[in-house]
Amino acid sequence: MPKHDLIVIGAGPGGYVAAIRAAQLGLDVASVDEHEQLGGTCVRVGCIPSKALLESSEHYLMARTHLEAHGVAVAGVTLDLERMLARKDAVVKSNTDGVAYLYKKNGISHYRGRGEIVAEGRVKVHGSDGDTDLEADHIIIATGSQVATLPGIELDGDRIGGSTEALSYPEVPGHLVVIGAGYIGLELGSVWKRLGSKVTVLEYLDRILPGMDAELAKEALKSFKKRGLEFRLKSKVTSARVDGEHVSVEVEGADAIACDRVLVAVGRRPNTAGLGIEALGIALDPQGRIIVDDDFRTAIPSIYAIGDVIAGPMLAHKAEEEAVACVEKLVTGYGHVDYDTVPGIVYTEPEIASVGKTEEQLVEAGIAYSKGVFPYQANGRARALGQTEGKVKVLADAESDRILGVHIIGARAGDLIAEAVAAMTFGASAEDIARTVHAHPTLSEILKEAALGVAGRSIHI
Ligand code: FAD
Ligand code: NAI
Repeated sequence: MPKHDLIVIGAGPGGYVAAIRAAQLGLDVASVDEHEQLGGTCVRVGCIPSKALLESSEHYLMARTHLEAHGVAVAGVTLDLERMLARKDAVVKSNTDGVAYLYKKNGISHYRGRGEIVAEGRVKVHGSDGDTDLEADHIIIATGSQVATLPGIELDGDRIGGSTEALSYPEVPGHLVVIGAGYIGLELGSVWKRLGSKVTVLEYLDRILPGMDAELAKEALKSFKKRGLEFRLKSKVTSARVDGEHVSVEVEGADAIACDRVLVAVGRRPNTAGLGIEALGIALDPQGRIIVDDDFRTAIPSIYAIGDVIAGPMLAHKAEEEAVACVEKLVTGYGHVDYDTVPGIVYTEPEIASVGKTEEQLVEAGIAYSKGVFPYQANGRARALGQTEGKVKVLADAESDRILGVHIIGARAGDLIAEAVAAMTFGASAEDIARTVHAHPTLSEILKEAALGVAGRSIHI
C-alpha cells in the first residue's frame, strides 16, 4: 500500500495549495481528485472560466456601444459565441495545466478517483480502473462545494442548470431567468445580458448581494438596472418546469415566467457525501459543513478540513489561506488566517469589492465609526477612462482611526481593494492611507481621497 506523509482529498485552491505548501516543507504528498483536470471548481468551472467570459463579453459590449465615445468607429460587430467559449476553455486548460506542472515540480503524487476515508490514516481511491489504497500520517479534506438547489426545482443539466451550464450555453438564451442575486447570479447574468439575452433576476430578499454593504448594494442595483438587467426582489420561486424548448418558472403571488433557460444561483453546499466521515465520528454543522477547530482539525486529530467544505466565505483565496495555515501549523506548529481581511469581489461592471466590516455590522455592534466617501466622478483617471460611475467608502474607528472596512463600487474595484487589504493587515489607520503617496493620475487616488474624507479633508471635492 503506497504510504505518504499527507493525503489531500480534493485538488481545488484549498487542496492543491495545501499539497504544494506541504511538499515545499518536505512532506511526501498524495493528492486525490475525481477529475483529470486539476484546480477544482475554481479553475475548471468557477473563478477562471467566469472571469474569462466576463472579460470577453465586456469586450463585445465595448466594441458595440462604448468605443464610439472614444472616437473609435467600429462597424459590423458580431458575436462568435463558439470562439468565445473555446477561448474560455483554453484559458481554463492553461490554468489546469499550470497546476499539473506545479505538482510535477513539487513531486506531488496525483491519484485520480473519489477519495473515501476508510479509517484513520487510510484513504481508498475509487478510480475508473479499480480502487487504490493509500496510507498517510495526516489527511486534509478539501472537497469543496457544489451548486445548491431549491425545493420544487430539479436541475436537468440543460435548460435548468447551475453555474457550470451557464458557462457553456450553446446559444445566447432569448430569455434567461436567474434565481438568486448573489455573486454567481450577477456575474453570469451580466455575461449573458451583454451577449444579448433578456435577463430577469429573481431574488428572495428585498435587496441584492446580501452580506455586502447595503449602500453599495443599492448603488449596484441601480447600475445593473441601467445596464438592462431586470430584477424582481422579494420573489419566492416555488417551481421550475421544462416544457419542450422552454421553462416555466412559478413565483409565489405572481404570474409564472416563461423563459428559455434558468440559472439557479442560490448558494452552494459542501461536498461531504461518500467521504466516510460519519463512520469516523466527524461532525457536520447544521449547514452540512465539517466542524473544525482553530487549527483546522476535525474530531479526529490527524484529519483536517479546509476551504468551502468548512465554515466561512466560499472563496478561493480563503481556501488558499487556510491551506497554507493548516499545513504550516501541522509541520511547524504555527499557522494563522486573518479572517477580518478576506476581501470579496463581484467581477461585474461596475465591479464591487469589499473588505472588513460593513456599516450595518458596525451599527449593530455599537462601534462608533467615521466615514469617508469619494466618488469616481471626481477622479481624473476615471474621467479619462470614461468610467466615472461609483465610489469608495472608508470606515474607520471614531477614536483610534483604525480602518475597519473599505467598500468600493466602480471600475477595477477588485484591484483597488488590495491596498485596503494590505493596510488593514498591518493595522493601518485611515490617516496612514491618506498620507501615503499615490501616483497621479490613478484610480488609487480615490481610495486616498476617501481616507482623507474620514477626517473631512478630501482635496478634490
Ligand atoms: P473546490 O475548488 O470545490 O475543489 C474541490 C475538489 O475536490 C473538486 O475538484 C471536487 O471535484 C473534488 N472532490 C470532491 N469530493 C471528492 C472526493 N470524495 N474525492 C476526490 N475528489 C473530490 N471564488 C473566488 O474567490 N473568486 C471568484 O472569482 C470565484 N468565482 C466563482 C465562480 C463560480 C461560477 C463558482 C461556482 C465559484 C466561484 N468562486 C470564486 C468560489 C471558488 O470556486 C471556491 O470558493 C473554491 O473553488 C473553493 O476551493 P476548495 O478547494 O475548497 O474546493
Ligand atoms: P450567493 O450566496 O452569493 O447568493 C445567493 C443569492 O440567492 C442570495 O442573494 C440569496 O438571498 C438568494 N436566494 C437564496 N434562496 C433564494 C430563493 N429561494 N429564491 C431566490 N433567491 C434566493 O450564492 P451564489 O451566487 O450561488 O454563489 C455561491 C458562492 O460562490 C458565493 O457565495 C461565493 O462565495 C462564491 N462565488 C464567488 C465569486 C467571486 O468571488 N467573484 C463568484 C461566484 C461565486
